Amino acid sequence: MQNKKWKIGIVLFFAFVSMLFAADLISLPKLTPENRAKAAEIYDEECYACHRWTRNFAGPEMKGNIARYFGKPDSLIAYLKDPQPIHPDKYRPMEIRKLSDAEAALMVAWLFSLLQDSTAIDRPK
Ligand code: HEC
Repeated sequence: MQNKKWKIGIVLFFAFVSMLFAADLISLPKLTPENRAKAAEIYDEECYACHRWTRNFAGPEMKGNIARYFGKPDSLIAYLKDPQPIHPDKYRPMEIRKLSDAEAALMVAWLFSLLQDSTAIDRPK
């Protein structure tokens, strides 16, 4: 009996730890001023050539893109790390330098913050 309780305890402990890890996977980095500047720089170099905030350009308007992914950071991170064709009828597939885990998570945190704060001074055009 005593032995069985131990086993249940161990199983619960591992379930708890794996939950923590799962939650961690989609936790976004803190937006310090340095992080914001870094995200804006990546956007300038890797995204601005094709995207404008409120109008379609070579790619669909960014505000609408981000609104669709809002609350689903993990899907947007996955997309930026390895874009797959989404609207083949309207657009060419997005060909970019695939972002790293850290870059993608930072980009998503920053883009979500821009969506929520229309007065952000670092919002791209
Ligand atoms: C070379 C041009 C180009 C660059 C650079 C580019 N994009 Fe795109 N983007 C596109 C195109 C084209 C699409 C539409 C792709 C499709 O429908 O398959 C797109 C679509 C998207 C979408 C919408 C995906 C969806 O589910 O509808 C998001 C979000 C996005 N881009 C973000 C970014 C970010 C962030 C960067 C910079 C890291 C970036 N893009 C850089 C061309 C580009």
